[in-house]
Amino acid sequence: MVYFYKILTFLAKFTKIYRNLAKIISIFMIFSNKWTAKKLKNKFFQYFQGKEHHLISSASLIPENDPTVLFTTAGMHPLVPYLIGEKHPEGQCLISVQKCLRTGDIDEVGDATHHTFFEMLGNWSLGDYFKKEAIEYSWDFLTKILKLEKDKLAVSIFAGNKDVPAYDEESEKIWLSLGVSKERIEKIKDNWWGPAGQSGPCGPDTEIFYWTGPGKAPKKFEETDKHWVEIWNNVIMEFDKTADGKYQPLKQKNIDTGMGLERTLAVLNGYDDNYKTELFQPIIKQLENISGKKYEEDKKSFRIIADHIRSAVFILGDSHGIAPSNKDQGYVLRRLIRRAIRFARLLGIKEYFMASLGNLIASWYALAYPELERNEKFIFSELAKEEEKFSKTLDKGLKVFDKNPPKSGKDAFMLYSTYGFPIEMIEEEVKSRNLNFGNKEKQEFLEYTVQHANLSTTASAGMFKGGLADDGVMATKYHTATHLLHQALRDVLGQHVEQRGSNINEERLRFDFVHPDPMTNEQIKKVEDIVNQQIVAQLPVSYQEMSVEEAKKQGAIGLFEQKYGEKVKVYKMGNYSQEICGGPHVKNTSELGHFSIKKEQSSSAGIRRIKAVLE
Ligand code: SER
Repeated sequence: MVYFYKILTFLAKFTKIYRNLAKIISIFMIFSNKWTAKKLKNKFFQYFQGKEHHLISSASLIPENDPTVLFTTAGMHPLVPYLIGEKHPEGQCLISVQKCLRTGDIDEVGDATHHTFFEMLGNWSLGDYFKKEAIEYSWDFLTKILKLEKDKLAVSIFAGNKDVPAYDEESEKIWLSLGVSKERIEKIKDNWWGPAGQSGPCGPDTEIFYWTGPGKAPKKFEETDKHWVEIWNNVIMEFDKTADGKYQPLKQKNIDTGMGLERTLAVLNGYDDNYKTELFQPIIKQLENISGKKYEEDKKSFRIIADHIRSAVFILGDSHGIAPSNKDQGYVLRRLIRRAIRFARLLGIKEYFMASLGNLIASWYALAYPELERNEKFIFSELAKEEEKFSKTLDKGLKVFDKNPPKSGKDAFMLYSTYGFPIEMIEEEVKSRNLNFGNKEKQEFLEYTVQHANLSTTASAGMFKGGLADDGVMATKYHTATHLLHQALRDVLGQHVEQRGSNINEERLRFDFVHPDPMTNEQIKKVEDIVNQQIVAQLPVSYQEMSVEEAKKQGAIGLFEQKYGEKVKVYKMGNYSQEICGGPHVKNTSELGHFSIKKEQSSSAGIRRIKAVLE
C-alpha cells in the first residue's frame, strides 16, 4: 500500500508538467504546417456546422442501458433511439467526435492502422438528407477542405447479397457524377454496416479509401491491397433488422457516417503509420526511453503497448469506475493492461511503467477529454495495482519455467494458460536458455492455443447476444424503474448516490452507484417500498427539452456529459424524479408491476450494485 501512495505522490508532481507541456506543444503546432487532431476536428465541425449540423458531445465509452455490447463501438451507437424514431433535442442533423472501443480488432493491433480505442468523427441525418447529399458532403470535405489528392482516393459500394440482392446503383451513379472513375469503384458484398448488436438499424454502405503505398496509386482499386486504407464510411441506414433476422425498411431513412481520426490524421501528414502522428509519438518516445530500444526495431510491440495503454486510460477515465476484474468491461480492461505488460517485457522493460505512461496519455488528452483529469487518481492507482499483481504472476511463471522448462507443446501451453505467457515470450525464454524446443513443439503448442481460443470465443460470444436497441416492452419498463430506483436510493442513502452504470435486459435491471458501505436490510426494504409507492401513485411520465444548465438548475440528476449550451431531454415521473435521459420510457408508472430488489453487492471499491426485477 505504501508503495502506491509513494508512486502517486511522485506522479502528481509531474502531472502538471506534462499538462503544460501538452499545452505548449499544441500552441506550437498551430505554427507548424503539420495537421493536428485539433485542427482536423475543427475543420470537420466548421464544415458541417456550415451545413446546419449540431455538434453533440461524445457519449460514454460504456453504453448506458444496453446489455448487448460492452463498449461504444461507433458514433451511431448512442444515437440508436433517434435512428429508430425518437426525436433528438438537437435536431435532425448532428455531428460528433465519439470515443470508441472495438475489442474485435485486438488481433489486428500491431499493424499501422488498427486500434482498440479510437476517435470517430461522424455526421448524421435523422430522416433529413439522404444518399446524394451524404456522398457529396464526404467527397467535398475530403477533397476541398482537407485537400486530399483525388487521384489517391477510391470507393467501394454495396454489391448486393442474399438478404438484399440489388447492388447500390444509385451510389455508383453519384460517385461517377463526382468524377470518380469506374475502375476506382469496387462492388463489395460485405459493404453493409450494422446492426451493432443482433438487431436494430443497419444498411448498405459506401466507403472511401486513400492510397498510402509508394508512388502513384494504381488505376484500378482493389480493396484487398493493404495500401488502400479506409478513412470514411457513409452508411445508408434504411433497414431495421428484426430480432427474427428479417430486414424491414426503416420508417425514417437515415445517414450514419464515420471517419477514423487517427487514420485521417496520418494520411493528411503523409504518414503510412498512425503511430507517427502526434497522438502516439509522445508515448512511443517515452517507450523508447524506458526500453532503450528504437521503434523501428520492434514496431509491433511498441504499437501494441501504446494502443493498449491508451485504451486502458480511456476505460478507467470514463467516470463509470470500471476497474480491472474478471467480468465484462473489467475483464477487457485487465486483458489490455496485461497484454501491454507482456509486450513490454519483450522489449526488455523490467521496471514498472504503466502509471507513468498512463499519466502522459491522460495529460495529453485531458484538454479534449476533461474526465481524464477528473479521474486521474483512479486511473494511475488502478494501472499501478494491476501491474504489480500481474508482474508477480509473471515472475512466478518464470520460476516455474526455470524449474521445469517446457519440453513439449503441451508443457508450453500450460505455462501460457496458467501464467499468461505469450508464445513470443516462451520462444524468447527457450532461445535464451538454448533449450530444445523446435518447430514440432511449437506446432503442438499452437494447436492447443487454437482449441483454447475457440472455447473462449464461444464463451464471450454469449455476452453479445440480443439486440442492440432492445426497446422491448420489459426493457422499457426496467428503464423507467431504474429512474425511480435512482431517486429512491438518494432519498434513503443520501445525495452522494450517483449512477455509475446501468444495464438492462428483458429479465432484470442492474444498477451501479456510488456508496461506500453495503446497504442494510432496512435500507433495501425502504428503497423497495418507495419505488412501489411511486408505482401505485400512477405517476405520469413525460419529458421536456432544455439546456444542460437549465436541467441542472431544475435539480435534474443524471450523468452530465454534455457540453455547455447543448440541449438534452429531461424525463419527469410526476414530481418524484427528474433525470437527464434519452428514453424511451413507459407513459405511466402504473404499468410497471411490483418492484423487488434481488441482490445488493459490491461492484468495485466505493461502488455498490443492485439487481432488481419487476414481478
Ligand atoms: N457506423 C459506421 C461505422 O462504424 C459509420 O459510422 O463505420
